[in-house]
Formats: sequence, structure tokens, C-alpha cells
Amino acid sequence: MSARDNTAVTAKNPIEIIDAIVRKHSVNRGATIPILQEIQKTFGYIAPEAITRISDLTGIPESDIYSIATFYAQFRLQPVGKYTISVCHGTACHLAGAEKISDAFEHATGAKTGGTSEDGLFTLEKVACLGCCSLAPVVNFINETHARVTPDKAQALVKAARAAAAKEKSPKGESQHGKQDV
Ligand code: FES
Repeated sequence: MSARDNTAVTAKNPIEIIDAIVRKHSVNRGATIPILQEIQKTFGYIAPEAITRISDLTGIPESDIYSIATFYAQFRLQPVGKYTISVCHGTACHLAGAEKISDAFEHATGAKTGGTSEDGLFTLEKVACLGCCSLAPVVNFINETHARVTPDKAQALVKAARAAAAKEKSPKGESQHGKQDV
């Protein structure tokens, strides 16, 4: 578990960061949701160690904290990948083949819907209507909305993202061919 958003606290270890968050929000049951929100904002997800620590500090049973964390869709109990892929499964997108699109992303990334790929690159999720039904099926891929997505397009998007990630990792930030393969 490592802090990712809060640069002011990166020098501290995760337990110290959690302690500071809990103290800031007061040590009572009513503060559980804001505490979980801030921990998720800081670390990207809520790790089991974080729940144990909140419980130790507040006296709220771990099972109660888990109940809250699993009840609200906003909370993640697993780390997210570098890229998030949100496939719309609202009615229009469902009728336009969202299931096939999710399958194509699962195949291309190796991630199951609701999970993250083993290489840590992709988190794949199913979401409700994204508000542009006339463009179904719609996918939000790395914070960009893509319209009328096909299985081939899904594969191409994943391939391009992998190439971009590899380019970022390469010593000079350049791919072997000097440009992105799509
Ligand atoms: S149902 Fe997918 S954008 Fe509305």
C-alpha cells in the first residue's frame, strides 16, 4: 500500500497517514464514510490493513467498516490499474451489444469485469448510463468517451494503451519504432 495523491504525506508510512486521517475526522462511527473516502483518495483503494487500523483507532468493529465499504459503490477494496475502462451497460448500450464489448475488453486486457489485470495496467468495470445513449455502445476509456465501440475497436484501444505504457517505461520515453503502434 502506498500513498499516491497526497504529496504532503508521502514521506510518512501508510499507518502514520491513516492515523492522521482518522484523527482529523474525529474518532466516532459517524466519521467512517469521510475517513474511508480520504483513505481511498490517498491510496487509490482501501486495503485490509487500513480497515484494521481504523478499527483499532475508533473501536468500530472491522466487520462494520467492511459493511460500509462494500455497501457503497464508491469504495474500492482492491488497487486500481493504471487505466480504467468503464463499459456502459445502460439500456441503450445493453441493446447495442455492451456484453460483447465487455467480453472483448476482458479478452484484450486479461482483466475480469470488476477487477484489474495481472500486469496492473487495466481495471475493467461495468457502469450505468454515461449519458450519450444515441452513441451506444459507449465506453469511457482512460477518461475519454468512445462512441459506437466495436470488439475490434476495444482491442485497438487496449493495444494503443499498452504501447503508450511501454513507451513511458522505456529509458528515453520512446518506443523502439519512435511512434506508437496501433
Ligand atoms: S445507456 Fe449507455 S450511454 Fe446511455
